[in-house]
Amino acid sequence: MTDRLKVAVLVSGHGSNLQALIDACQKPGFPAQIVRVISNVKGAFGIQRALKAGIPHSVIDHLKFENRTDFEAQINDELESCSAELVCLAGFMRLLTGSFVKKWRGRLVNIHPSLLPAFKGLDTHARALAAGVKIAGCTIHYVSQGMDAGPIIAQAAVPVMPNDSEDILAARILQQEHIIFPLALKMIAERRVKIEDGRVHIDGITPNNSVIISPVLN
Ligand code: GRF
Repeated sequence: MTDRLKVAVLVSGHGSNLQALIDACQKPGFPAQIVRVISNVKGAFGIQRALKAGIPHSVIDHLKFENRTDFEAQINDELESCSAELVCLAGFMRLLTGSFVKKWRGRLVNIHPSLLPAFKGLDTHARALAAGVKIAGCTIHYVSQGMDAGPIIAQAAVPVMPNDSEDILAARILQQEHIIFPLALKMIAERRVKIEDGRVHIDGITPNNSVIISPVLN
């Protein structure tokens, strides 16, 4: 397939979402290919994953730049040099400036481990537990200015159990992240995702009308 969507993935850490995207892209007929992985953290395990999969990769250490603009200029150069058509933020822990976001608007997606717009920012699982929500989840969204803001592409919901720790809840959500990120990428690469009036519309989907209730009574 020659017209697969060219995707760059930005990571800062473990890269399990990157792995989910790599695995999806390796499936025959998948409409996207990862052309570059960039980490802002030297030694991030995500880079090892790229190496193992034979994907071009690089480390652009934000600490080596005087300001965000220069850091992002370097990222932008690399994205352009590999002709990336879409940028996936997969656990990329740097805030991007308005000008970068503007430049990549509509071509920049992020994963966040909450049901946005609830619990934007850091410590999402702890805050979800502290708030006592009974359902939590994760979101794939286009990035617009503002932290964890932008049109929502896909979400997955999971129950919060009475004795959940932060780690247990995070692991339950992460499993779903690994499902919805490839799903969102597939839909985008198939050019079925459109942003209209700040909201995402997706062609040719069957709405999931099953209800999630948590807790349930025996
Ligand atoms: C994920 O929970 C993602 O939602 C958040 O950071 C975590 C990254 O995990 N933004 P990984 O590096 O993909 O394993």
